Amino acid sequence: MSTLQFPLPERTTTSTGNVVVDGPLADLPAGRALVPARAYTGTDEFALEQERIFSSGWVWAGYAHWVAEPGAVHPVTIGGKPLLLVHGEDGQIRVFHNSCRHRGMALTEKPLVVQGRIQCAYHCWSFKLDGTLAAAPYYTRERRSKLDPEVAKRLSLLLVASHTWAGMIFVDLSATETDPQASADSFTAHLSPLLERWSHIDFSRLHLAGERTFEVDANWKLVVENFLDFYHLPFVHPQVGPVTASLDVDDVALQPDVIGGSYPRGAAGKAEKTAKSLPWLGDVPEDRLERQDIFCLFPNALVFLEADWFQVIGYHPEAPDRTVEHMAIFVDSSAAGDDFAETRDQLCEVLWHVNEQDMPMLHHLQIGRNSPGSDSTNLVSHWDQITALFQKRVAEKAGY
Ligand code: FES
Ligand SMILES: [Fe+2]
Repeated sequence: MSTLQFPLPERTTTSTGNVVVDGPLADLPAGRALVPARAYTGTDEFALEQERIFSSGWVWAGYAHWVAEPGAVHPVTIGGKPLLLVHGEDGQIRVFHNSCRHRGMALTEKPLVVQGRIQCAYHCWSFKLDGTLAAAPYYTRERRSKLDPEVAKRLSLLLVASHTWAGMIFVDLSATETDPQASADSFTAHLSPLLERWSHIDFSRLHLAGERTFEVDANWKLVVENFLDFYHLPFVHPQVGPVTASLDVDDVALQPDVIGGSYPRGAAGKAEKTAKSLPWLGDVPEDRLERQDIFCLFPNALVFLEADWFQVIGYHPEAPDRTVEHMAIFVDSSAAGDDFAETRDQLCEVLWHVNEQDMPMLHHLQIGRNSPGSDSTNLVSHWDQITALFQKRVAEKAGY
């Protein structure tokens, strides 16, 4: 199969003039799935993906609002590895391996707000919010053991490369450089085509309108594939608008880790979500006011941007057939007050409902993966090039 160059060549082949990218499907023999069905059901494959996909490169770890205040500590598991998201006294969000430097006990399995120190339950070593060891009682068997500063530094919590952007915290477990500036540079380089595309949006103004958790009984890859599937909209979500609006979508492949689609007139063509309009999320140019951008930030952040709201589904794979989605909806901070409370609620209800409608589809997709027929599925080039790009990325990274 040919090596793909990004951005991919585009064709406008639809009668509506929409863009279809030249993805991997042209080269694929009919009836051959890019990712084998066993990758959606097998425990070995799940473990392999946790290592090769979720422990390598930038991965969504959680939301900044989970650690909103100094002293907030929030445990997450990424690539099977327990981590702590920590809001420091200096305002920085850091991510550490959740393993005490003495005997490796997990420091907490629940979110906490601490007063300056995170304490281990076993021998009461305590760590400052920047990770350095603050105290280790009776370390030298003396009542007043004083910690050598060198020892305190050597026994700091292990830092993980992380970066916070657009209300989300990302980690790269494979990075050897964990310094914040190096992480910021690496993250910015990783997402540069998207950062450029969205440079008119002021993400520092995001206000959380709502958050909801969905327990999905399907493999994580189906969650992504369903999000990138624009074809099912008129059938599963008919309320979002007329078929003509659902068909008016362009494929967008910015780089291998940023793929999705864009409805150039989506907000105009679809049904109104709220009775009162929300303020824009920045200085949105006239020609982008109606645009809806829908991208997978590989592997586990699914983002949806309109001029006046931003939706994220970040998720953690828990088992081959289980994924936990954390869906959050953000609006501009000028819509944070009571005067917009009803509008925020209306928006959230509409968006929760769309996601709920996908739950039975995901369940059925997962059940189908137990069939030998799922090794010879047939993605169609008119609709599924973006899904094929996602599967190709999975196959490359996991080695299928
Ligand atoms: S394991 Fe944490 S203090 Fe001993
Ligand atoms: Fe859907």
